[in-house]
Amino acid sequence: MITIAIDGPSAAGKSTVAKGVARELGFVYIDTGAMYRSVTLYALRNNVDCRNDEEVVKLLKDINIVLSVDGKVLLNGDDVTYEIRTQKVVDNVSFIAANKGVRLFLVEQQRNMAKDISIVMDGRDIGTYVLPNADVKIFQVASVKERAKRRYLENISKGMECTLEAVEKDIERRDYIDSHREFAPLCKAKDAVEVDTSTLTIEESIDAIVKIIKSKVGIINE
Ligand code: DC
Repeated sequence: MITIAIDGPSAAGKSTVAKGVARELGFVYIDTGAMYRSVTLYALRNNVDCRNDEEVVKLLKDINIVLSVDGKVLLNGDDVTYEIRTQKVVDNVSFIAANKGVRLFLVEQQRNMAKDISIVMDGRDIGTYVLPNADVKIFQVASVKERAKRRYLENISKGMECTLEAVEKDIERRDYIDSHREFAPLCKAKDAVEVDTSTLTIEESIDAIVKIIKSKVGIINE
């Protein structure tokens, strides 16, 4: 059983790369951002202010999140895979992610998911807090300009209206909130390997990370 933690700022292409790394290694991919997004969606659906920590924590007992093996996100049985990517969720998720009660609730589930199977888990605090004993820790970064360009093109391809400038501002805002929150902020674990993907394609990023993993834990699936 091997655990791989991939952390890094928003829109660095982590989930696409982490998914590819998991596929290459035959591991299960766990997207922890989808869990924070699901809690956000649930609060919005129930008209609870995402900045009101106490009211949000009251909702947790009614929330069941399942990440299916085929990549779907289920919130109380409802497929929310696409809805958790909408702008309304993006605008509010940093407040939810800064809520200590929410983090404790989700971290417990994340640790349980990593107990019995080999996994690649991506997020912000996986190597520092969720799985401090992960076999390999990657800190994936890319310049703000490059991340904004990628997210902008992704949004446009999905038919979402946006400007490059607005996307860049939003990335900077999320970087700031994620790395300045009090509890389990985004930061590089001491023993993490930093991978800058600014000039790499998705496939090159996957290859680079798989190489690092193989060099650290030995050859897998070969
Ligand atoms: O990776 P993402 O963009 O789907 O993450 C959504 C939000 O959740 C983002 O604001 C950071 C936060 N997050 C977090 O605080 N800790 C994690 N382990 C994963 C995501």
